[in-house]
Amino acid sequence: MPRFFTNLSECIRCGVCVKACPKGLIYQNEENIPQMTDGAESRCNNCGQCVAYCPTEASMQTYSERAHLEAALQYKSERSETILKFLKSRRSNRNYLPVPLSRQELLKILETANFAPSGGNNRTLRWILIEDQQKMNEMRKLIAQWFDTTCREHPVYSKRYAIDSILSRIQKGQDVIFRGAPHVVYCVGPEKATWGPVDTGIALTYFNLACEAMNIGCCFAGYATKSAETQNIRDFLGIGFEEKVWCALCFGRKSLVPYRIPNRGEVPVTFL
Ligand SMILES: Cc1cc2nc3c(=O)[nH]c(=O)nc-3n(C[C@H](O)[C@H](O)[C@H](O)COP(=O)(O)O)c2cc1C
Repeated sequence: MPRFFTNLSECIRCGVCVKACPKGLIYQNEENIPQMTDGAESRCNNCGQCVAYCPTEASMQTYSERAHLEAALQYKSERSETILKFLKSRRSNRNYLPVPLSRQELLKILETANFAPSGGNNRTLRWILIEDQQKMNEMRKLIAQWFDTTCREHPVYSKRYAIDSILSRIQKGQDVIFRGAPHVVYCVGPEKATWGPVDTGIALTYFNLACEAMNIGCCFAGYATKSAETQNIRDFLGIGFEEKVWCALCFGRKSLVPYRIPNRGEVPVTFL
C-alpha cells in the first residue's frame, strides 16, 4: 500500500497536499488527483503534513487511519494571552509529593511529547522512564556512587562543577538530584545522530509542557544526565551500543506552585 493515498470521493483536487509535502513527493495528475511521485515511497517518512493540512480529510498515510485522526486545535485570538502566560508561568519544580503518577498519566504525557519536531522528522529518540519507586531508589544510589567516585578520581572537575558540595548534601540524606520526584525520564538516541542534542531539547520541552498542562511539575536533571555516562548506570537503563543518554528530566506532582512570573530582564536579541 502506498504511504500516501487519497479518498477520491472526498478529495476536492485543491492541491494542498502537494504544497504541504516537505519533500515534494506528491503531484497532481492530469485529472488533478494527487499521487505519489515515482520512487517516493522509500523517501516518505510519514511526517503527516499531507494529512494535517488536507481540508477535507481526503489525504491519508500509513499512520493516519481516519478513525484515529483528532481535529487540530484552531487559533483563537482571545486565547493567545493565556497561552503566552502559560509558557511564561512554567517553572522548574524542585518540590514534589511522593506520589507516583498512574500509567495512564505517563502515557498521556509521552503521547504528547511524541509530537515534538525532530531534524528531518527522523524521530531517532526513545524514552526510558522510571516508573517503579524501588527502581527510582536504586537509581538514586547509583548516582550517589557516581558522585562519590567522581569526587575521589577527579577532584578538580568535581570542584568546578560543584560535584563535591552536592556529594556532601547527598551524604546528609538530601535528594539533590531528583528532589524527591517519583519519576525520571531519560531521552536516549544514537550517539552519532546529527540533531541529537537539539531534538532532545525539543522533545523534553514538549514533555515538560505536556506535564505543565496537567499540573505536573518537572525539572531538567543535568547531574542525572552526566552520571548516565557511567557503565553501571547505562547497564541499569539498558542503553545500547552506540546509544547515548542525551538528557534526563525528573517529574511528579507539585508540592509547591509558583504564584508569580519572575523578571527575565531584557531579551538579548539583535534585529538585522
Ligand atoms: C540542560 C539543563 C540541565 C539542568 N540541570 C539541572 C539540574 O541538574 N538540577 C536542577 O535543579 N536544575 C537543572 N536545570 C534547571 C535550570 O536550572 C532552570 O531551568 C533554570 O534555572 C531556569 O529556571 P526555570 O526553569 O524555573 O525558568 C537544568 C536545565 C537545563 C536546560
